[in-house]
Amino acid sequence: MATVQYNRARRMQTIAISAGVRLTPLDLEDAADLFALTDANRAHLRAWLPWLDGVRRVEDTRAFIRTAERQAARNDGAQFAVRVDGAIAGIIGHHRIDWRNRHTSLGYWVGEAYQGRGLVTAACRSLLAHAFDAARLNRVEIRCAVGNRRSRAVPRRLGFREEGMVREAEWLYDHFVDHVVYGMLASDWRRAGGVRGAGSSG
Ligand SMILES: CC(C)(COP(=O)(O)OP(=O)(O)OC[C@H]1O[C@@H](n2cnc3c(N)ncnc32)[C@H](O)[C@@H]1OP(=O)(O)O)[C@@H](O)C(=O)NCCC(=O)NCCS
Repeated sequence: MATVQYNRARRMQTIAISAGVRLTPLDLEDAADLFALTDANRAHLRAWLPWLDGVRRVEDTRAFIRTAERQAARNDGAQFAVRVDGAIAGIIGHHRIDWRNRHTSLGYWVGEAYQGRGLVTAACRSLLAHAFDAARLNRVEIRCAVGNRRSRAVPRRLGFREEGMVREAEWLYDHFVDHVVYGMLASDWRRAGGVRGAGSSG
């Protein structure tokens, strides 16, 4: 099976999503802007993401970007900045890629002001096309906290199947949350018509 390299040679491509919206592979030059977005959205993000207290200075964001670069260099998936008219609106990426089982999972966030525009749904659709059509993966998973209505709406909108629940899957500062597991298989993707079909009615 040919594996698609997400590493420097191949990952450096920008993915156009729609007019003014694109995904760019994270780069150390993004650190200041990404930290500023994170810092301005601390309360919004902290409701559902566990890492906010570990990001206090721009150096912490740089460390995250370096980790993302190492991830891409070992062909284990990529982290992209979601850009709107050039400005960073959020992040979408793979947690890792399990090449043996042809499986990956996606994570995402956007600043509060960038919600409600379909950015993440569209970005996921592009990464699904890449996963199923280019990388020939068989399964993509998205896990969301049960109470995270907006996050759960993303895989639902894209036609993922709700497959089950993992109890107390994640520690969020002072409490556990249960996760709902959403899965899409390559066969689901093809049946839905690929990038033109999967949830593209919005
Ligand atoms: C989860 C999160 C990324 C979802 O953001 P979102 O804006 O709801 O998702 P999308 O970008 O796909 O946009 C969907 C919204 O845009 C609207 N929309 C507008 N045009 C659209 C289009 N062309 N296609 C799809 N949706 C569109 C949808 O109706 C929906 O809004 P609604 O919920 O008010 O109905 C965001 O809430 C977030 O960052 N939360 C904090 C971090 C987090 O929870 N991350 C996920 C952890 S699992």
